Amino acid sequence: MTKILVTGGAGFIGANFIHWVLKNRDWEILNLDKLTYAGNLENLKAVEGGSRYEFIQGDICDGPLVNDLMRKVTHVVHFAAESHVDRSVLEPAVFVETNVLGTQVLLQAASKNKIKRFHHVSTDEVFGALELSDGKKFNEETPYNPHSPYSASKASSDHLVRAYGDTFGLEYTMTNCSNNYGPYQFPEKIIPLFVANARENKPLPIYGDGKAVRDYLYVDDHCEAIALVIEKGKPQETYCVGGDSEKNSIEIAETILEALGKTRNLMTFVKDRPGHDRRYAIDHSKITKELGWKPRVTFEEGIAKTIRWNIDNMAWVENILNGEYQKYYKKQYGGK
Ligand SMILES: NC(=O)c1ccc[n+]([C@@H]2O[C@H](COP(=O)([O-])OP(=O)(O)OC[C@H]3O[C@@H](n4cnc5c(N)ncnc54)[C@H](O)[C@@H]3O)[C@@H](O)[C@H]2O)c1
Repeated sequence: MTKILVTGGAGFIGANFIHWVLKNRDWEILNLDKLTYAGNLENLKAVEGGSRYEFIQGDICDGPLVNDLMRKVTHVVHFAAESHVDRSVLEPAVFVETNVLGTQVLLQAASKNKIKRFHHVSTDEVFGALELSDGKKFNEETPYNPHSPYSASKASSDHLVRAYGDTFGLEYTMTNCSNNYGPYQFPEKIIPLFVANARENKPLPIYGDGKAVRDYLYVDDHCEAIALVIEKGKPQETYCVGGDSEKNSIEIAETILEALGKTRNLMTFVKDRPGHDRRYAIDHSKITKELGWKPRVTFEEGIAKTIRWNIDNMAWVENILNGEYQKYYKKQYGGK
């Protein structure tokens, strides 16, 4: 029986992964989450009490707890992280604590308990930035060149995972994926934030000239990629996962405004993020060739579903916007 310790399962991608696994595989899940501002058990209400799912509130930096949980599982899928680039500019220390030290605690316990597979969920941001029109894409051979405290902490965690493989023989796999979108995404991220603001005729804050490009990956496609890598991926290998959907911030804003029947005048250009990477794009040919994965959901389908989900779940979004997010917003934008 496959029993997976999912870390950070109450966050955006972790929660989607748990729903996806419980629907598409017979695996059991043990979800370890600290419930930081980004963790939300509302995301998992539908699976609470199920025979294949258990939740433990705790910190991945807590060695004895992690070691104890590791004895009960066969695999690890590691999502838990501080994940928001803007927050890493304001408060870098917690990014190092969770993303670097927390990952090391997990790796230590996984090695000790001879876990069958440690799957590490990483990001394309570790590779740095591409030019807007150079046509290049990141792949598994791209050298690391992170620019933000977030991407630097993720890069450090990637190196630690490989070091535990090389030094202690830990069987690992890694995925470096592009920008996910879909249900349950915390509304500080561009798509849910723009939907919430557009709905209320509030400005959609666009960094700099709005031309920074990200490759959008529908979260269910990402979940399927992780499952395939665990099942069929070669140990000690990395797979780049992308959505074939390069969009800039203006295009995202336009799509959302059009879908909600709102005016383009809501687009508001604000001071650029320091160290803002210009473009990310992923060449996913390795996982396509070796494991037969490719993104199934087009951007048009995915964005329509995501907008619909956010509108249908506005109480969920507003709960967050009226609580923790306000403190952060005040700090960043000076009390608006
Ligand atoms: N969202 C994206 O577009 C994206 C893209 C590439 C990679 N990733 C990676 O995927 C993973 C998940 O991203 P997400 O967007 O779901 O993040 P998220 O911020 O929505 O969720 C993170 C979860 O981790 C939990 N957590 C944080 N610190 C913890 C700790 N010390 N101990 C236990 N739990 C803790 C939080 O409570 C939360 O539930 C991250 O590792 C991130 O770097 C995300």
